[in-house]
Amino acid sequence: MTDKPTTDKPWGGRFTESTDAFVEAFTASVNFDQRLYPYDIAGSRAHARMLAHVKVITPAECDAILGGLEQIEQAAARGEFDWSIALEDVHMNIESRLTALIGEAGKKLHTGRSRNDQVATDLRLYLREQIDNACAELRRLQQGLVALAEREAATIMPGFTHLQVAMPVTFGHHMLAWFENLQRDRERLIDCRKRVNVMPLGAAALAGTTFPVDRHYTAELLAFDRPAENSLDAVSDRDFVIEFCSCAALIQVHLSRFSEELILWASAQFGFIDLPDRFCTGSSIMPQKKNPDVPELVRGKTGRVVGHLMGLLTLMKGQPLAYNKDNQEDKEPLFDTVDTLLGCLRAFADMVPAVEVRSDKLLSAAASGYSTATDLADYLVRQGVAFRDAHEIVGSAVRLAIDTQRELAELTLAELQSLSPHIAEDVFDLLTPEGSVRARDHFGATAPAQVRAACARARKRLEVADTHGGEAPLAGSGD
Ligand code: ARG
Repeated sequence: MTDKPTTDKPWGGRFTESTDAFVEAFTASVNFDQRLYPYDIAGSRAHARMLAHVKVITPAECDAILGGLEQIEQAAARGEFDWSIALEDVHMNIESRLTALIGEAGKKLHTGRSRNDQVATDLRLYLREQIDNACAELRRLQQGLVALAEREAATIMPGFTHLQVAMPVTFGHHMLAWFENLQRDRERLIDCRKRVNVMPLGAAALAGTTFPVDRHYTAELLAFDRPAENSLDAVSDRDFVIEFCSCAALIQVHLSRFSEELILWASAQFGFIDLPDRFCTGSSIMPQKKNPDVPELVRGKTGRVVGHLMGLLTLMKGQPLAYNKDNQEDKEPLFDTVDTLLGCLRAFADMVPAVEVRSDKLLSAAASGYSTATDLADYLVRQGVAFRDAHEIVGSAVRLAIDTQRELAELTLAELQSLSPHIAEDVFDLLTPEGSVRARDHFGATAPAQVRAACARARKRLEVADTHGGEAPLAGSGD
């Protein structure tokens, strides 16, 4: 018997009483960080192999560690790993099980390592994989947009500014505008990945370790681009989490704006599109309702992703170097951001190709609202009228059309000529929505021929591989 209270914590040596039960639960992270187990195990495999490589542990000890980790991974994958709050987090749960399984060698795994560099490594391995998943879903959504744009390259719809009818555009052109948003999003993620793919291991608690670690060797085993330059920075940096969440917030903002359009367009008032029934739900009281739940939820979920970004920025703002327990609070917002983002991207990638376009409604909406007024002004300019004067003349034509409840194309030639002698019969070709879009025929504009060319370019751009520094070797690192 000893008068020292029993404490079964891996760090319990210097403690004289066991942890308060509430504090134990309050400080534990295993409930949410257990999802890092595949990355924690991958990091431990690489660390053990490195320790053997520099002869800090024997090849036999390394083999024992790898064998034990394998068993733990399989048990966890089957949902049979019994996670314990008393062991605080994913790292100590796994280490303690390893020692229970293989004895002495298990106790050597943590040589030259700390949970501080370990958790930063786990998080980077996890995020690297999630970035690849997000890029794949973005690409799938972009492919759907190009297919839809190609199908509807010549479909005419009203283009809006201030949500007022502005000029006719093609539906394909509109879809390709969202393609560009998502292309920038994907490029941003690929760029973010470069800063994620840096290895903290070897920084240990904060200052490095007295063991002759070969950090380049470990980095290579884990397919990191390089080991982190500075040990203090390695354990305290969470920029990569914030940067990813910032990319995610912007993607959500794009999806939210697109959602808003789909919701408006699917309404009876617009009637531009139909969303397939499988992406909608009904009302429990109003039998006629078909609600666009998927885009509404995506729009709504944008709030929590933006909120997580704010939370993480605030989490970091007061922290001195190096690691602080505050950093444990980075995980839930990051995990929820990843889950939300992947869910929203998946829903959109599935739904977009299935959007049904009501081209008759789109065309009649494009033909109303004097959408070709600018075409008439441009026509006058080509006849030698100064643009400001042309603007004035067309203003009068619109006034006349409003007063007599007609569209511009319905005014007579005589009426138009009374406003300007420069107007001739050929003007009617470009007062139609078809003439209007056909005339905008240059790189980046809305003419059907330009949309088809842009689709071909977009397909080529989607073929370019994401410039990753190699594939994550999570499965293969533990031979
Ligand atoms: N659960 C901790 C976290 O998420 C792991 C690192 C703990 N390090 C420490 N020195 N207490 O940040």
